[in-house]
Amino acid sequence: MALPDTLDAVFSDALDRLEEGARNRRSAMHLPVVATADADARVMVLRHVDREHVEMRFHTDARAPKTAAIASDPRIGLLCYDADARVQLRLRGTGRIETEGAEVEAAWEESSNFARRCYLAPHPPSSAHAAPLPNLPDDVRESEPDEARLNHEARAHFAILKVRLEEIDWFSLAHDGHRRALWRRDGKSTWLAP
Ligand SMILES: Cc1cc2nc3c(=O)[nH]c(=O)nc-3n(C[C@H](O)[C@H](O)[C@H](O)COP(=O)(O)O)c2cc1C
Repeated sequence: MALPDTLDAVFSDALDRLEEGARNRRSAMHLPVVATADADARVMVLRHVDREHVEMRFHTDARAPKTAAIASDPRIGLLCYDADARVQLRLRGTGRIETEGAEVEAAWEESSNFARRCYLAPHPPSSAHAAPLPNLPDDVRESEPDEARLNHEARAHFAILKVRLEEIDWFSLAHDGHRRALWRRDGKSTWLAP
């Protein structure tokens, strides 16, 4: 496939790849590494890309340490690499955690009961324990919890992470010359030396 020749085309290509990542669980961009300003990083499932506002959405447990980290310093870095396409995306933005509002409700509604079950976890994610634990109530480990319980107990722990992107660093590896460009929200987009 021909490489993008304009900065606009690079920006479109990056957003196409991210949208495909949100849509397709087999896409390499489906599982970005999400880094917080406390120098911690973790894999998260990319759930949605808002092309108009250049924002990404992830789902998380409101009790996870990353929510407090983002509240005290909202800077987020994200890393995606598609090894087949040989395209790396390094993204920078500002994160916000939301537990209420129309977008949170819609995200909860569109989640499967299997996905919602994770939010019944009795202990906060990343809490320390003396023995291995699945962090699910015993009675739902092998069965689907009923809707009322999910909407009450699990919903209370559900949050979305929205990341408003400020920069997209797009890097394409190629034998006959790499190509790299930086999209910036402030309009100062530029080609970069790879
Ligand atoms: C393949 C994979 C997908 C994951 N997806 C999510 C996710 O969508 N949301 C999330 O909060 N954690 C997800 N996790 C778990 C996180 O990587 C992390 O371990 C957990 O959220 C606790 O992170 P924290 O201590 O940084 O808050 C996923 C882990 C793996 C291995």
